[in-house]
Amino acid sequence: MTGIKDTSIGIVGVGLMGSSIVASLLAAGHRIKAVAPLAGELDLAAVRIKEQLLLCEKGALLAKPAHFYLSSLTISEDYNVLHDCSLVVECIIEDVEAKEAVFKKIVAAVGKDAVLASNTSAIPISILQAFVPGPERFLGIHWAEPAFATRFLEIICGEKTSDQTANWVFELAHLWRKEPTLLRKDIRGFITNRLMYSVYREALTLVENGYATIEDADKAFRYDAGSWITLMGIFRRMDFTGLQDFPVIFNTLFPGLSNTGEVPAVVRKLMDQDARGTLNCKGFYRYTEEEAGNWNKAFEAFNQDIYRLAALYPAEVISPVLK
Ligand SMILES: NC(=O)c1ccc[n+]([C@@H]2O[C@H](COP(=O)([O-])OP(=O)(O)OC[C@H]3O[C@@H](n4cnc5c(N)ncnc54)[C@H](O)[C@@H]3O)[C@@H](O)[C@H]2O)c1
Repeated sequence: MTGIKDTSIGIVGVGLMGSSIVASLLAAGHRIKAVAPLAGELDLAAVRIKEQLLLCEKGALLAKPAHFYLSSLTISEDYNVLHDCSLVVECIIEDVEAKEAVFKKIVAAVGKDAVLASNTSAIPISILQAFVPGPERFLGIHWAEPAFATRFLEIICGEKTSDQTANWVFELAHLWRKEPTLLRKDIRGFITNRLMYSVYREALTLVENGYATIEDADKAFRYDAGSWITLMGIFRRMDFTGLQDFPVIFNTLFPGLSNTGEVPAVVRKLMDQDARGTLNCKGFYRYTEEEAGNWNKAFEAFNQDIYRLAALYPAEVISPVLK
């Protein structure tokens, strides 16, 4: 495997996530080969990437002007541009068959030592890994949107991923200004979705059974968890609050928490109304188009603010902050 900054990286699929991942990796100094897998999407892909780079520039995330980075970018519909990539990340729609077809094309274009990855949110890596020869070089790399501004990055080992592959990507990710986590054994939902969906399930249970309104569940989460979550995470938070009461609390609270395997009725009702959230202004809340647009803008701005704030409080070393 090659050294770090000289690494050419391929991104296949230049939709929402793909274009933001391209911007993130260009900003980190890599040469990028982007493949638009559907015919006729090339111009749109180029526009999307430029937009994402401009957002990086606006957020002061670039060392040089946005246009400088475009000289390190090749966009094509031809998979052969990937031939010299040391890492190729697939970022197409969440569909196993479509991903299988794309990996066949990637494998035909790259060297046999190229590391291959998927940005899937939920498909088990062990399933995707079976589509490529040399499955030990395959893993999941799960970004959060917008990829250039979020510090989150989950690296997921499938059953056959080698330690060498996982460690190489883990090291590389630090140069992307990420705080990578490593999921050592493939499990559905990976780390972050397992954590978040357990919160979603409990919030839905409280609302559905009339214990709290949607607004109050949101308020509680924003003003309680929101005040410590970026700084401490989960286990440090438990240390911080003192561990001694937890056994009693676990004994009394755990048995009453939701463990339903059903889709909650409130969600089924929204699906019957074709509610898609801010996408079509219909969700748990109602939006005008302007309000939905404002939430998107606010999220972009908040991500840039939190990126800067979180950088003042490094993940492991808290002491410089206290001086
Ligand atoms: N959107 C997010 O917040 C997010 C977060 C983490 C992971 N992901 C994952 O990233 C991947 C891409 O998501 P996205 O939000 O960028 O989706 P998107 O719809 O914006 O883009 C998907 C791209 O897939 C391509 N595509 C569509 N059909 C195809 C086909 N049959 N064959 C090959 N390519 C095809 C298109 O070129 C399109 O640009 C998914 O696996 C998703 O689960 C998304």
